[in-house]
Amino acid sequence: MTRALFLSFEGGEGSGKSVQTAALARSIGERGRDVVLTREPGGTPAGERIREILLHAREAPLSPEAQVLLYSAARAQLVREVIRPALDAGRIVIADRYFDSTLAYQGYGHGVALEQIRGVTGLAVGGLVPDRTFLLDVPVSVALPRSGWRSAATWDRFEVLGSDFHERVRDGYLRLAAAEPERFVVVRGDRDEASIASDIRREVDALLTPV
Ligand code: TYD
Repeated sequence: MTRALFLSFEGGEGSGKSVQTAALARSIGERGRDVVLTREPGGTPAGERIREILLHAREAPLSPEAQVLLYSAARAQLVREVIRPALDAGRIVIADRYFDSTLAYQGYGHGVALEQIRGVTGLAVGGLVPDRTFLLDVPVSVALPRSGWRSAATWDRFEVLGSDFHERVRDGYLRLAAAEPERFVVVRGDRDEASIASDIRREVDALLTPV
């Protein structure tokens, strides 16, 4: 029986997560392993509806506390409908964002107490923690123009929240990583995509190789 593996990817706006998660899924798939790629918020029918509310908060603003609950609700559904069943079937799950996003954005970014977020998160994920979490770390001054070129929606988020907010998110992620060095792998994201992909691939290969 091949070993199931749960990997999550984290990072701020414009950190290149979508490129890297897609590249990793492709390269693992080419080696004959079943891969499931998830994206938060969303990934289930209910989660996609919640995503609509969360990402269009301009018309219907949400307090940071309401954000914690909605992101967590979508995640609770994703864990039970997609992630758990995939891991039980021996698959490799790659999650583009997971609970560290809530700690970084709503906790460090918006100031919601981390202990309270951890309580809600515990209920949502039922103790399902990734085997490894890759943090794509990019200085905000590099990420900001990068993501502006890519997507108007992301650019909008920068405009609305300001670069101080994104600095707090970045700093928060680095603190989370420092607190759990056995789970986190911090990858410098301000390099060419191929080098980043090969660093990540090396880490994942080590996890997949039986000792
Ligand atoms: P999206 O455009 O889906 O993707 P990404 O920025 O990952 O490429 O945007 C997700 C947004 O939701 C992003 O701004 C981070 C935010 N977010 C939170 O604030 N808290 C959370 O718990 C999650 C999962 C996301």
